[in-house]
Amino acid sequence: MSRLSNLAESLVGSEIVKLGNEINNRIRNGEKIYNYTIGDFNPAVFPIPTVLKEQIIKAYNDGYTNYPPADGILPLRAAVSQFLNTYEGISYENDEIQISSGGRPLIYSLFKAVVNPGDKVIYAVPSWNNNHYTSLNGGIPCEIQTTAENNFMPTVAEIAPHLPGAALLCLCTPQNPTGTTLSKETLEQICDLVLAENQRRGPEEKKLYVLFDQMYFTLTYRDTKHYHPVALRPEMKAYTISVDGISKSFAATGVRVGWGFGPANVIAKMKALMSHMGAWAPMAEQVATAAFLKEEAAVNTYLTDLKGKLEQRLWRIYEGIDQLKQKGYVVEAIVPQAAIYLTLKFDLKGKSYQGKLLNTQADVTQFLLGAVGLALVPFNCFGADADSPWYRISVGTCQLEDLDVIFDSLEKALAQLS
Ligand SMILES: Cc1ncc(COP(=O)(O)O)c(C=O)c1O
Repeated sequence: MSRLSNLAESLVGSEIVKLGNEINNRIRNGEKIYNYTIGDFNPAVFPIPTVLKEQIIKAYNDGYTNYPPADGILPLRAAVSQFLNTYEGISYENDEIQISSGGRPLIYSLFKAVVNPGDKVIYAVPSWNNNHYTSLNGGIPCEIQTTAENNFMPTVAEIAPHLPGAALLCLCTPQNPTGTTLSKETLEQICDLVLAENQRRGPEEKKLYVLFDQMYFTLTYRDTKHYHPVALRPEMKAYTISVDGISKSFAATGVRVGWGFGPANVIAKMKALMSHMGAWAPMAEQVATAAFLKEEAAVNTYLTDLKGKLEQRLWRIYEGIDQLKQKGYVVEAIVPQAAIYLTLKFDLKGKSYQGKLLNTQADVTQFLLGAVGLALVPFNCFGADADSPWYRISVGTCQLEDLDVIFDSLEKALAQLS
């Protein structure tokens, strides 16, 4: 076979998709698997807002089927601007907002706009897909290995030494895969570091930009609060490009409406790139999302209900794992703060199940699949070491009543380990 581009030849497929294929094969072969690997929602459990659905249908009936403008229709950018102001207290003009088909094209075009091949890109590990976007753009990864003690979020001290010479710092809060967040103090200190670094750079030097991924920002629980760099330090507006959308906040992953916001000069380049990629959100979905976001009461009612259901599941799992830990099993969970994820530890390497040694962490993953029917994503799929005992569980497809059954079989399986 003939060789393709260096990029094509070096592409690494998604580890989660590989795992998902294996799980689907097992389900096809008749195994009962609780598949909590995907960062998605089961629409039967978590449907999109009714108003949004009705507005999408109406928009098609009204004939909104032509090309949208490359940066998104004006009423949607205006609605996003209002939404950001209401929920985060930040102000963005229409030319500082870019609409796209979900969050991914925004991340891709932002990388293209600020990262040259060979530029340093800083991101925490584990984290979602920063490794792929960095390699797609020829960036040099600068990975911060985070720890359980810090809820797997990067600390100021871990970030600081890497900023000189870096093109992009990727922050994600609430974070996929951990379901944890950056505190106000930490984010403030990171902003101060970025501002100081940019002040130090000469007028001809490329600035350090921040990718601020807040795809899950509305989904925070109990006393956890979300903070935006620009709300904390207004000077950060010149360097922060945020990624957001309806995918997670409104359980609308398949509707494909996202928005990026940042300084007008960067957004203009992202728009130019987007016009070649054609990765716009469909016209009718843009019209519908604009109408939905303006219905503040419907937005609030929906968010309260969605958050209530997600929080219930996350805490049920957290408490279930904690009870097993109290009973002496080597399992652990990080207190859930946000998003649809929870971080679990199954430190079972070296134990035996039905006479078979769990030699590697991959064996532990298979044990959870085979003995409990529990499918989770090991942190190594997000860039952590292959022998990391930590996992992401996603509750977007979780039926509450299944959890009793799962915890029952998990305890039985754990009890059989020797
Ligand atoms: C942290 C984070 N950012 C961005 C995205 C991309 O979202 P979208 O599905 O809208 O492209 C995801 C999707 O899983 C995500 O987890």
